[in-house]
Amino acid sequence: MMKSNSFCGYSLIITFFMFLGARSTSPLTPNFYGKTCPNLFTVVKNEVQKAFDKENRMAASLLRLHFHDCFVNGCDGSILLDARDGEKISISNNNSARGFEVVDDIKNAVERECPGVVSCADILAIAARDSVVITRGPSWTVLLGRRDGFVSSRTAADDGLPSAFESLENITKKYAKVGLNIIDVVSSSGSHTIGLARCAAFSNRLYNFLETGLPDSSMDENQMFQLQKLCPMNGDEMKTTLLDQDSENAGCINIFDNHYFQNLLNRKSVLSSVQVLLSSTDTKSLVELYSMDNDRFFADFVNSMIKMGNIRPPSRSRGEIRKNCRRPN
Ligand code: HEM
Ligand SMILES: *[C@@H]1O[C@H](CO)[C@@H](O)[C@H](O)[C@H]1NC(C)=O
Ligand SMILES: *[C@@H]1O[C@H](CO)[C@@H](O)[C@H](O)[C@H]1NC(C)=O
Repeated sequence: MMKSNSFCGYSLIITFFMFLGARSTSPLTPNFYGKTCPNLFTVVKNEVQKAFDKENRMAASLLRLHFHDCFVNGCDGSILLDARDGEKISISNNNSARGFEVVDDIKNAVERECPGVVSCADILAIAARDSVVITRGPSWTVLLGRRDGFVSSRTAADDGLPSAFESLENITKKYAKVGLNIIDVVSSSGSHTIGLARCAAFSNRLYNFLETGLPDSSMDENQMFQLQKLCPMNGDEMKTTLLDQDSENAGCINIFDNHYFQNLLNRKSVLSSVQVLLSSTDTKSLVELYSMDNDRFFADFVNSMIKMGNIRPPSRSRGEIRKNCRRPN
């Protein structure tokens, strides 16, 4: 009797852990909140629209937040936490990642509609899609059911996020670590068709590229002149310019399209990490393909965004539905 009882307890424990494991890796689904928050998509879309109307750039900033969330510990809302030594102050995010107040606004609107139901990680995923749509890019079905994590680590973000100063090989490795391939590297970089970069992100190219004492010769000379004017040596590194220069709507905000890849081929990229896409034949041929075929760019971009949204937290870290995106409950 004793033996059979303890065996029973043992098997219950196993089942319990299998259940937890299954839950943390269960596939995301489009209708996850169909019953618990039927108006979710409308609520998020309205808030993204409001933020965009106030400042067009916010579409770009929200898209980038989802990317930076997913690459570090999976898509678990970790970038949103106001943690000490958290992701917000990592190299790629400090003075750069933005839109946190807008995420708060979206979360508050969602909480008013259906309290305690929708994760901050899912809100980021929906807001990223809406941001692409609002700038006239492609739409896709957002998969849902993520849970919010408890930790946010600056060093994990320093290690996981690609930087503008890295080689293609290094960037590709960081993508591979989260299950993304070379097509994902190129298509997702097409996000830089919208949004801004600070002088800090590209001034390495302007005066002393790779310790040569010269500007980066792979940049168009006229653009080089303009960027040097914007970003003088020892000037304000927080000044910004369009990532996709002289696009149709330049000066305002760019529309989401493949013009960015055309710029790349015309030596008019702003970030060197993007110029490096031309440094291998695999990636160069994709850049050429996308520059000629907007539909193909959109199709591959959507596929990469869904893959990126599927990056999961380590299965041991269970999640919660945060009430406030800035802190665990
Ligand atoms: C391939 C590796 C990537 C590198 C090295 C990279 C690097 C950068 C850098 C340096 C900036 C400028 C930040 C600043 O100056 O504050 C930037 C901006 C941006 N990035 Fe990336 N990025 C990469 C991939 C991506 C991906 C995958 C996405 C989205 C799916 C994305 C979306 C954006 C957007 C939208 C902006 C503009 C943000 C704004 O205006 O607030 N990037 N990126
Ligand atoms: C982040 O930026 C602030 C403001 O510029 C700066 O004072 C701080 O040292 C930076 N933090 C890190 C960890 O780089
Ligand atoms: C690539 O990564 C290695 C190992 O982390 C690092 O030592 C090297 O400086 C990186 N190179 C570039 C160009 O980013």
